[in-house]
Amino acid sequence: MADVGSSGQSGTTGQDHETAGTEAKRGFTRRSFLVGAGAGAATAGVVLGGAIATNTITLPGAATVPTTGGSGQGSIPATMRRVTLDIDATKHEVVVDNRETLWETMTYQLGLSNSNLGCDRAQCGACAVLVDGKAVNSCSLLSSRLGKNQVIGTVAGLSTGVGVAALHPIQRSFWLNGGFQCGICTRGFIMSTVALLKTTPNPTDDQIAEGLSGNICRCGEYSKIFTSVKVAAAEMRGEKVTYLAAPVLMGAVQVAAPVAATAVSKAFEFAAALATIEDFDPIAEKLKGTSGVLDVGGSERTITVKWDPAKFDETKIRALLAGLGHAVK
Ligand code: FES
Ligand code: FES
Repeated sequence: MADVGSSGQSGTTGQDHETAGTEAKRGFTRRSFLVGAGAGAATAGVVLGGAIATNTITLPGAATVPTTGGSGQGSIPATMRRVTLDIDATKHEVVVDNRETLWETMTYQLGLSNSNLGCDRAQCGACAVLVDGKAVNSCSLLSSRLGKNQVIGTVAGLSTGVGVAALHPIQRSFWLNGGFQCGICTRGFIMSTVALLKTTPNPTDDQIAEGLSGNICRCGEYSKIFTSVKVAAAEMRGEKVTYLAAPVLMGAVQVAAPVAATAVSKAFEFAAALATIEDFDPIAEKLKGTSGVLDVGGSERTITVKWDPAKFDETKIRALLAGLGHAVK
């Protein structure tokens, strides 16, 4: 479950449902309020160890309210914080606005596309990541609260390489059991499943329902999601497993195995990033349909291609990508 409560964040409070009109009457927005009072002060308690109320800010149409400041912040504004985010074992030093969420920092500052934004209101769980092993909604967790060596994990940190065989058992199970349709919710479900299986290696249906109750699948793939969780749990317990969709997707499984020892894999950066991740699949499908191309993965910015060196070399792969209209650096 996307346990926002465990992070100290309030996810679905009554304030979330107040209307823009209410905020207009009050004269400032919910997030402006967070900067100056509630979460802003709490943030200072975490980041600065309790140094509070040395500066002030003025909210539009409201009285001057105390906010935070203190040593170690250099010349950054009082409404900003310098934090080090430990994401998937990489430390990122960033200066964040007090109102900035972890999802915003990861996406807009760090260029990571590791979690999806659904509701942006702590209601759907699509954006779930792990913070110190607990699933939290990154859309509702302020980055400025994460400067105390918390370990942040995303779906990008689960696999060990390219191809189905290198996926984490939970990722592989969702993929080969068809535990998704559009995929918007899938990263969140996978991260919540990671947290669930860590504490409950052999969950019952009720425990899966409870563990994933913070995640919503609007495509309604719950039956296959439950299967995906159970099969992943079995594999992680060391049991031999079979997958619902394996016959359909077996090509994707088998391509990596026979030539894995001699296959060559390389990550390339697109010369021009794709507009959205949805643009990636058509490129991948065309490449996968090319004899000698063994596997393809990537994002809006990068593409990793695994090929049979008996049929391709890097120059030919680059030419292939350029021929598809997506030259790489
Ligand atoms: S809970 Fe974060 S996007 Fe829905
Ligand atoms: S697969 Fe579409 S929302 Fe879950």
